[in-house]
Amino acid sequence: MPDRQPVKLPAIAFLGAGSMARAVLTGLLQPGIEVEGGIRATNRSAANAASLSELDGVTAYATETDAAANRTAVAGAKLVVVAVKPAMVPDLLREIADALEPDAVVVSVAAGVTVATFESLLPSSIAVIRSMPNTPALVGRAVTGVAPGTRSSDDDLALAVTLFETVGDVIVVPEEQIDALSTISGSGPAYVFYLIEQLTAAAVAKGFTPEQAALMVQGTFRGASELLAASDVDPTELRRRVTSPKGTTERAVAVLEAAGLQGVFDEATDAALARARELAAGA
Ligand SMILES: NC(=O)c1ccc[n+]([C@@H]2O[C@H](COP(=O)([O-])OP(=O)(O)OC[C@H]3O[C@@H](n4cnc5c(N)ncnc54)[C@H](OP(=O)(O)O)[C@@H]3O)[C@@H](O)[C@H]2O)c1
Repeated sequence: MPDRQPVKLPAIAFLGAGSMARAVLTGLLQPGIEVEGGIRATNRSAANAASLSELDGVTAYATETDAAANRTAVAGAKLVVVAVKPAMVPDLLREIADALEPDAVVVSVAAGVTVATFESLLPSSIAVIRSMPNTPALVGRAVTGVAPGTRSSDDDLALAVTLFETVGDVIVVPEEQIDALSTISGSGPAYVFYLIEQLTAAAVAKGFTPEQAALMVQGTFRGASELLAASDVDPTELRRRVTSPKGTTERAVAVLEAAGLQGVFDEATDAALARARELAAGA
C-alpha cells in the first residue's frame, strides 16, 4: 500500500457492509488513520454483523436482530456511506431520513442511483456525494470517481475524497461523467482480468502448464504496471522500448493493431454506458 500522511475522519456509518463497503472500511483500519467517533456497519444477517464486529474499532448491527439497525448506526455519524444494492436504496433512505444528523454527508457507492434520487428522499440539510469505487479497493489500489451533489460544500466533498484516498486514487468529476467513468475504471478490472485470461490461454496453447502460464502472464501484467508507475515516460514510449524495429514484438503488435483494439474498447465502453442508461431508466 502507498505511504500516506496521518488521516483523521469523523464518525462513519457503512449501511450495507457487503463486498464494496468492506473494502473501503478495511482501508480505514490501517495504521495512521483515526476515525474519531468510530466506524459503524450494518448488514441484514447477524452472521455478517458478527464477522464485522471482530474488526478492531467497528461496531456492527444487523437488521435481522435489530429492526432499527440502520437508524442506530447513523445516529452521531457525520459520514454515512450507502452501499446496499441500487434497488434497495430508496427504501433505505426513507428508513434513515429522520435519524440522520442534520449535518451528515451521505456518500453513495450505489451504481446508477442519481444524486437527484438521494436528495429527493433526504432532508434538505443533508449533503449528498455520489461515488464509483472499483474492486482493487480491497488491496488499497482503487480508482474512485467522486461527484459532488447540489447541496454539498467543498468541505463535504473533501471528506469523501479523504475517505476514498484511504483505499487508492480519487478523481473528482461532475455527476454527468460518473457513468462514463464507471465504464473505464468501475468495469475496468474485468477488462484487465479478461485480457489476462486470453493471454494465459495463448501461453497454455504454446505448451506451458497452467501454473507456468499464470506466472508468466500475471507477472508480466504486474511488472509492466509497476514499471509504468515507476517511470517518467508514457506507455507508448515504454512499448517502443520493448519493440525493436523488425523484431518479434513488432510483428505481434502489428497483429493487435490490425485487430482494431482501440475500436473494440470504444464499442465495449459504449455498450457499458448504454446499459447504465437502461438501468437508470429502470430496464
Ligand atoms: N462490487 C463492485 O465492484 C462495486 C463497484 C462499485 C459500486 N458498487 C456498489 O456497491 C453496492 C454494494 O455492492 P456489493 O457488491 O458490495 O454488494 P453486496 O456484497 O451484496 O453488499 C450489499 C450489502 O447490503 C446489505 N444489506 C442489504 N439490505 C440491507 C438493509 N436493509 N440494511 C442494511 N444492510 C443491508 C447486505 O447484507 P446481507 O449480506 O447480510 O444480506 C450486504 O452486506 C451496490 O450498490 C453496487 O452498485 C459495487
